[in-house]
Amino acid sequence: MKLKRILIFCVWGLVMAASVGAQSLERITPGQEWPDRKGEHINAHGGGLLFHEGKYYWYGENRPARGFTTEVGVEVYSSSDLMNWEDEGVALAVSEEAGHDIERGCIMERPKVVRNPKTGKFVMLFHLELKGKGYAAARVGFAESDSPFRFIRSLRPNAGKWPTDFSRRDIRKAKKLKEADYKEWWTPEWREAIREGLLLARDVPGGQMSRDMTVYVDDDGKAYHIYSAEENLTLNLAELTDDYLDYTGRYVRIAPGGQNEAPTIFKRDGVYWMITSGCTGWAPNEARMFKAASLWGPWEQLPSPFVGKDAKKSFHTQGTYIFKVEGTEDGFVFMADRWNPQSLKNSRHIWLPIDFEADGTPVIRWVDSWSPKEWKSIR
Ligand code: GAL
Repeated sequence: MKLKRILIFCVWGLVMAASVGAQSLERITPGQEWPDRKGEHINAHGGGLLFHEGKYYWYGENRPARGFTTEVGVEVYSSSDLMNWEDEGVALAVSEEAGHDIERGCIMERPKVVRNPKTGKFVMLFHLELKGKGYAAARVGFAESDSPFRFIRSLRPNAGKWPTDFSRRDIRKAKKLKEADYKEWWTPEWREAIREGLLLARDVPGGQMSRDMTVYVDDDGKAYHIYSAEENLTLNLAELTDDYLDYTGRYVRIAPGGQNEAPTIFKRDGVYWMITSGCTGWAPNEARMFKAASLWGPWEQLPSPFVGKDAKKSFHTQGTYIFKVEGTEDGFVFMADRWNPQSLKNSRHIWLPIDFEADGTPVIRWVDSWSPKEWKSIR
């Protein structure tokens, strides 16, 4: 009898523990810990979202509690309501092979996964730094999946190619610029030289540097890789080939010398909006915004979309992706990280709905909590 009671008690305890872990979240609470179904804070930083067959997939950096290198890889979570996330495990694991591009101890950041409608495959692009080289490699990694992902290669984009909007004269001029003549940064002459292609020309032979990045698939199925090039001074927007695994060679520069990182992008009513950050490492800074009628530009720079207290620090966040809630007309959500360099794993996820002015300009306001279910845009 006594044994039976102990047994019942144990089973009850187990059921309670499981149900606490699987407690269902009813709201998104920006800045708080975000427990997954097992009660663990979601470890998918610098991430992006994908919707496929009725489910959302959140891919992001699996970060260690201490240190800055990648020990596990890219983690993926799934959800049907954007609030309750199931850890689906490692989507792309680091390699145990010495000298491999994604050897354990490399740095894999800002993974973005898109589905190629032509091939039906999922393609992942991510920022890759080679093991033991700090942030010097500045490469992009490609992986492809049915499931799990298979690493394909890493590279610096568009080797041997000049931007699409560079004339022969522009190329001749850029080739004459020498870094040795511009040792001091931020002078008016240096700024002019950057605009004219001082670092661009330096990197044409080996390919452009590629650090913070995102991937955007337009309505026609064409995909674009947007990344911080030229020592993080200039953004590039580069067209990918039909299989999304290479570059067509068409690319433009955005805001040369403007120091933009963390690019995020969406389209609404035929206008492309890009929200970026400045370059201050893990520390937050004031976001920037750009708009264009065509991906190829011209991109017009606008003030930060953040308003209210702490807007100058973007509510202590740095963007990583913008997605639209399924079934809404303009339910766009800004996904961001509040980095904790003491423990990157514990960096917080800040997701905020994007509002729009009457003229269509995006605005980001702080909200303590919100639910995609009750959101006014859902129709
Ligand atoms: C940030 C960047 C992050 C990470 C970090 C390293 O500026 O957005 O993705 O690279 O620097 O310091």
